[in-house]
Amino acid sequence: MPYSPPEQLKNKNLWQTNPFINNEFITSPSTKTFQVVNPATEQIIAECPEQTAEEIDEAIKSSYDAFEKFRKTHPHDRSKMLRKLYNLIHENLEDLALILTLENGKCLTDAKGEINYGASYFEWFAEESKRTYGEVIQPTNPNNKIITLKQPVGVVGLLCPFNFPNAMSTRKAAPAWAVGCTCILKPDAQTPLSSLALAYLSKEAGFPPGVFNVVLASTESTPMVGKKICESNYIKKVSFTGSTPVGKLLMQQSSSSLKKLSMELGGNAPIIVFDDCDLELAVTQSIASKFRSLGQTCVCANRIFVQSGVYDKFCSRFAEEIARFKIGNGLESGVTHGCLINTKAIDKVESQMQDALQKGAKILVKGGKLPELGKNFYSPSALYDVPYDSLVFHEETFGPLAAIAKFENRDEILKICNDTPYGLASYVFSESLNNIWYMSEYLETGMVSVNTGVFTDCSLPFGGVKESGFGREGSLHGIDDYTYVKSINLGNVYR
Ligand code: SIN
Repeated sequence: MPYSPPEQLKNKNLWQTNPFINNEFITSPSTKTFQVVNPATEQIIAECPEQTAEEIDEAIKSSYDAFEKFRKTHPHDRSKMLRKLYNLIHENLEDLALILTLENGKCLTDAKGEINYGASYFEWFAEESKRTYGEVIQPTNPNNKIITLKQPVGVVGLLCPFNFPNAMSTRKAAPAWAVGCTCILKPDAQTPLSSLALAYLSKEAGFPPGVFNVVLASTESTPMVGKKICESNYIKKVSFTGSTPVGKLLMQQSSSSLKKLSMELGGNAPIIVFDDCDLELAVTQSIASKFRSLGQTCVCANRIFVQSGVYDKFCSRFAEEIARFKIGNGLESGVTHGCLINTKAIDKVESQMQDALQKGAKILVKGGKLPELGKNFYSPSALYDVPYDSLVFHEETFGPLAAIAKFENRDEILKICNDTPYGLASYVFSESLNNIWYMSEYLETGMVSVNTGVFTDCSLPFGGVKESGFGREGSLHGIDDYTYVKSINLGNVYR
């Protein structure tokens, strides 16, 4: 049964439900479909074809065929396409945000923020594409010169998550196109519509056929598509954002073809609030970090450690700030936080909360399910005096549960922060350069955010260490993940 685009959508062309291959939204021969559901209303908003394994193979081949030509385009021409896409996204910002809220459930203000953030990668890499510099190196043989070039790796497979249906796609595709790679993207089954809207705009921006292919799969057949992408010899690199266990599996699958990989995996971010912090800033920014997208980001605070001198005040102000939240359908005005993607996210919050309470944690804010709004709505909870051995301090929550504990000593808390297999982000609140520098240097995370709860930016090298993955997205380093260094030895130049 066909589902029509939402009435409020001004540019109806952005509402696409078919796979995008060779610059066309194709009719799949598959007889199976999967549904896209608005998590806020639980209504089906679209039906997409479940592509077959043969179709995925064909899409990969099309990306491969397109690479030979696209790699030869001039960097300045690629730059112009990227810049055009940036402009087109801004022209369609309201519509893109509407699509995002409908499929993901985050509130419209956050969705607009994400579209702006996602577009910024195109602006950034429109500039970087002109600046993929090589080097001239003086070799030991005085008659020779060594030159290095940064070359595009080839076709890249982009495996994207539900939590940023726009920005995680743009963060991967922008550097890939900047250097001349072609992409095959698989969006999360719950949120494919934002990637398809982006595909429509990529064609408008002038990207040639096959440079951006978007394939579609339900949650059940996602492993089949992931395996095909990882095992294909046509694909030279895979960039994945998602959980650590899935990242490990994809890495194994990619080993047969020794692919270059970028893995943006799970986190367990600590916030460390020192006695010498600006308390108001520490509270509001901890709230911003913890409850961004209702806790559904890899960099959201998972553990909040507050030094004893400001602990009580921090906890009471934290609770006051949560009381200001307005939970509801993300499209309604005044709503500050929408809903979660599904009930599995709620189950995890509840089980971590029960575990912490059993171990002795105390309730600061009693949240819980909001069935009157819908099954995916949950009002945030906060616990204090959470024992260090609680699950919530050791597993990624990915939901609206804040866990707070007291600490006394800097070295003790540093050890606790680092006592995790994860190493994505950490946050420090202090006015002392000594505390800031010490923690920034010794926290085992790829990113440290000082005195701010929202630190990501297209110019920041985003990525983790330890089991949070490897590779850097965004910034000048983002180019490196999509290129390899070719060395050319020019012999006998002084003949
Ligand atoms: C994420 O952690 O899931 C991405 C967050 C960001 O880029 O701001």
